[in-house]
Amino acid sequence: MSRIEPWWRTAAVYQVYIRSFKDGDGDGTGDIAGLRSRLPYLGDLGVDALWINPWYVSPLLDGGYDVADYRDIDPRFGSVQSATEFIAEAKRHGIKVLVDLVPNHTSWDHQWFQAALAAGPGSPERDRYHFLPGSGPGGAEPPNDWRAVFGGSAWRRVPDGEWYLHLFDISQPDLNWEHPEVRLEFEDILRFWLDRGAAGFRVDVAHSLVKAPGYPDTGDKANEDRLLTAEGESQHPFWDRPGIHAIVRGWRSVLDGYPDVMMVAEAWVANQDRLAAYLRPDEYHQAFDFEFLEAAWGAESMRSAIEESLASTRPVNSIPTWVLSNHDVIRHATRYGLPQGVDAKQWLLDGDRSLLDSALGNRRARAAALLLMALPGSMYVYQGEELGLPEATELPLDVLDDPTWVRSNHTVKGRDGCRVPIPWTIDGLSAGFGSGPSWLPQPDGWSAMSVEAQAGVEESMLELYRAGLALRKEVFVGDLALEWIPSPADAIEFRRGSGVRCVVNLGTEPLSVNGEVLLASEPLADGSLPGNAAVWLR
Ligand code: GLC
Repeated sequence: MSRIEPWWRTAAVYQVYIRSFKDGDGDGTGDIAGLRSRLPYLGDLGVDALWINPWYVSPLLDGGYDVADYRDIDPRFGSVQSATEFIAEAKRHGIKVLVDLVPNHTSWDHQWFQAALAAGPGSPERDRYHFLPGSGPGGAEPPNDWRAVFGGSAWRRVPDGEWYLHLFDISQPDLNWEHPEVRLEFEDILRFWLDRGAAGFRVDVAHSLVKAPGYPDTGDKANEDRLLTAEGESQHPFWDRPGIHAIVRGWRSVLDGYPDVMMVAEAWVANQDRLAAYLRPDEYHQAFDFEFLEAAWGAESMRSAIEESLASTRPVNSIPTWVLSNHDVIRHATRYGLPQGVDAKQWLLDGDRSLLDSALGNRRARAAALLLMALPGSMYVYQGEELGLPEATELPLDVLDDPTWVRSNHTVKGRDGCRVPIPWTIDGLSAGFGSGPSWLPQPDGWSAMSVEAQAGVEESMLELYRAGLALRKEVFVGDLALEWIPSPADAIEFRRGSGVRCVVNLGTEPLSVNGEVLLASEPLADGSLPGNAAVWLR
């Protein structure tokens, strides 16, 4: 029997990287006006909600994850008024809006950090961050051996000699979550956006926040970011600390005062059991399943990622959150086109370009979309994946904007290639993204993948997403049951509560299937599903 689920348990959420979605004022950067003009498109696509990447006042040194004011919108994107109107208008299209909460760090432009710099060592202003004396003669060395995610030491010295912690870019000082004012401030920020109609939050770096007392060195474990004890508890000095959960429960009690709202965690933790701890009934509603995102193309790896996610969420009465791409990873149409065993990040930097089979990547992306939509739980679509956009791999080095490129001393290329502005039309300077050039250049041929080029074309990726999302509502969200069906080694098959089956052929040999075809990623020939394809059957 089907039961009424809270909306988020089965939602299809569309991720909007606002800088690159649609430019409404011709300055080359996406904005709220542009996004608003595309609400009909998003309504037609059939998504239930949007997650908007940070749109707050920011120097944009990490694409907006360096927030200078959590209660104001950057003028390049709009204003609090236009954001509030946008949220209300989206609601009229049946679309909810999630905003991005960035609690681990602020921008160095934030007034708290500016006050901390001005007030000097030992001041209460410095207590809101992690300021420490250095080590070694004259305190000239960083306080410990912690490394920043983007490269280099996680500490930076200020002119008076103290060092501050930044687990990401130098412009992103980490907040001290032991400080009561920090906790109160963020509860208030939650209320600020909920009062303006937000349906909830995507929480950035949800596995950080708390740091081990005494800031112990990581020593020879410096590169192991997922240290666990024999009992499976995290023993890393700054990732996945036990103290995180009390903070999350505080946020949850704020959210529980509003109807129908939720929060989703971005937590890169050691395994799905660790992730389930964030999904306990008084914590997050959702947490992205990155094991599934990272699973190599293959029946074994994908099935086990799915099984583990279902198994680990069950004891906490939660449900998985499936995702294939986001603004931090190489787009899956490209990942799936690389041979098994090739490290995509390394390949992006200096790999042999002839290894990439784009047609195969696209074909697998179509199949993966049908798998994603058929799974029980919620799912996220990263803008442009519905157009089959690949990673832009050949951006000129002088346009790269991701701080990773500089901080890693040019050893990691960074995430710009998945952040290139969306092509809307076949003609136009930036393929309809804006009226002039876009902040990141679009590769040649981008307009052939535009919305205009695909709309109404039956075999396009866009029409596959439209049909899939519509059908998903009918046959996959009413009943969350999933039953595995024994299948050949290279295939995955399961039946959902409605009786509809999903078969994915991850191998190359055709697979014979039976039943009425509801939707297929490739045409079937004589009742057989070609390799690298998926089908929904009744
Ligand atoms: C998250 C964001 C990423 C950002 C980082 C620091 O991982 O998704 O884009 O750079 O946090 O805020």
